[in-house]
Amino acid sequence: MIHRVRKPYIAGNWKMNLDRARSLDLIKTVKGRLGDGNDREVAFFVPSIYLADVSAVAQGSPLGVGGQNLWFEANGAFTGEVAPRMLREVGADRVLIGHSERRHVFHEPDEWMGKKVRAALDCDLLPIYCVGETLEERKGNRTDRVLKRHLETGFEKIRVEDAHRLTIAYEPVWAIGTGETATLEQIGQAHRAIRKWCVQRVGEEAANLMRVLYGGSVKADNAKEIMGVDGVDGLLVGGASLQADTFLPIIEYDLR
Ligand code: PGA
Repeated sequence: MIHRVRKPYIAGNWKMNLDRARSLDLIKTVKGRLGDGNDREVAFFVPSIYLADVSAVAQGSPLGVGGQNLWFEANGAFTGEVAPRMLREVGADRVLIGHSERRHVFHEPDEWMGKKVRAALDCDLLPIYCVGETLEERKGNRTDRVLKRHLETGFEKIRVEDAHRLTIAYEPVWAIGTGETATLEQIGQAHRAIRKWCVQRVGEEAANLMRVLYGGSVKADNAKEIMGVDGVDGLLVGGASLQADTFLPIIEYDLR
């Protein structure tokens, strides 16, 4: 049994999947299995169009509900975008920022990240800030450099007192949705580098409050060993978060 200083955080990222009825069913099932949520934090990141309905069902339970992206302005001529205050209004209490699909499919630049993280915090949304290298960057030995760049840009506007509200997700791009999980050694190495950076940035005491999750092809059969890697405080789960029978055993990784 490893000693944990931070509460484990298991998050499901639905991406652009499910429909309204199946979303609500899944929330009901997971809510019913969560207990008081004292020993772990569980959240779903939901397509914004379903947020109001999903958060209404989750209400009264410890289940967190979040958006998958935001724009950093409060309003204005930004067709297609969602403001932090709008996410709050429909019941979201958290948000993903810098997910690899935002960075690589929709070409979101590093320069937006710091403003997005700041805007989320200023609106009382808990961000999960995603970082991670592509296969090309890993093969070129640039993993550490990329992680540093992602962290520096994302936490540009961060103050020490924000630390307890920040979560980082290490998601190697080549492991997302591919069925290929990073090795335990690769995960450990990246998590050590991230934590070291955090300690340098906000000091040891504040950095100790920040959780660092792993994401990329997490499934019921590898969740436990990944959670056993030193420095892994939780999991960000895509494909396996879409059904109760694949997600529940991940939430309950330590009960099997
Ligand atoms: P995956 O996605 O679990 O389907 O690999 C993870 C993510 O993109 O957050």
